[in-house]
Amino acid sequence: MNFAEILQPIDEFLQCKTPAAWLDEAKKPERLAILLQDHLVCELKAAQTAMYLLRRYACDHDSATTLLNWLKPFEDFAYRFDGDLTRLKQAEKLTKSIIGRSDFQHSDVIIDKMVLLIREELHHFCQVLEIMQQRGIPYENISASRYAKTLIQHCKTHEPQILIDKLICGAYIEARSCERFASIAPFVDSELASFYQSLLRSEARHFSDYLELAQTISKVDIAPRVQYFGQLEAELISAPDADFKFHSGSPAINA
Ligand SMILES: [Fe+2]
Ligand SMILES: [Fe+2]
Repeated sequence: MNFAEILQPIDEFLQCKTPAAWLDEAKKPERLAILLQDHLVCELKAAQTAMYLLRRYACDHDSATTLLNWLKPFEDFAYRFDGDLTRLKQAEKLTKSIIGRSDFQHSDVIIDKMVLLIREELHHFCQVLEIMQQRGIPYENISASRYAKTLIQHCKTHEPQILIDKLICGAYIEARSCERFASIAPFVDSELASFYQSLLRSEARHFSDYLELAQTISKVDIAPRVQYFGQLEAELISAPDADFKFHSGSPAINA
């Protein structure tokens, strides 16, 4: 599949493109450090989101502990500045199997998709960290943008809708990441451009995995909730934003 084919369903799903003003800002060499630092944390958050869904809904008690231990070196690095790239690369793969909970009929499909997704996000984390280190960009624990937290704030608070809503939000975050990587790739150096392009394939699959899971688990058509979050997501991407991050809105830095 070529890039155009990968991006077509993403562009159909998202209700707006990245604003030109965001790209103008992202092109500035002085913005590279914040983009990579934020990207690094986004990879960990993507893994944490999938892990939360696994632990909350799909896996048994022992597997929940196995999953926590899998992520721990990455969280130690991100939140406690403990560890290094060599140790993280050794921790990317999960060595134990994850057992599904018998009282939830969709356990196995969630486990299949989310364990692979976490592994890929942790690999991306190591790739971003390696690029930062090669360029002498230090890791800093930076604040999150408004984007994901606003989407999550709009999820229903009762089951099963909260799960469906979170899966739809996951689909939007993955789809937007994919669209942003494709949009920015032409404006960065060739090494970064090929890295961003290499991410498109897995992030596009993560988008469709989340969306398929949402429709599989929901007993009703998810289209109205997809439309609702699509509109909210497009507003977050298009509206002025004083912050500049990977998922921020239209830059209003001097506004
Ligand atoms: Fe990723
Ligand atoms: Fe992803």
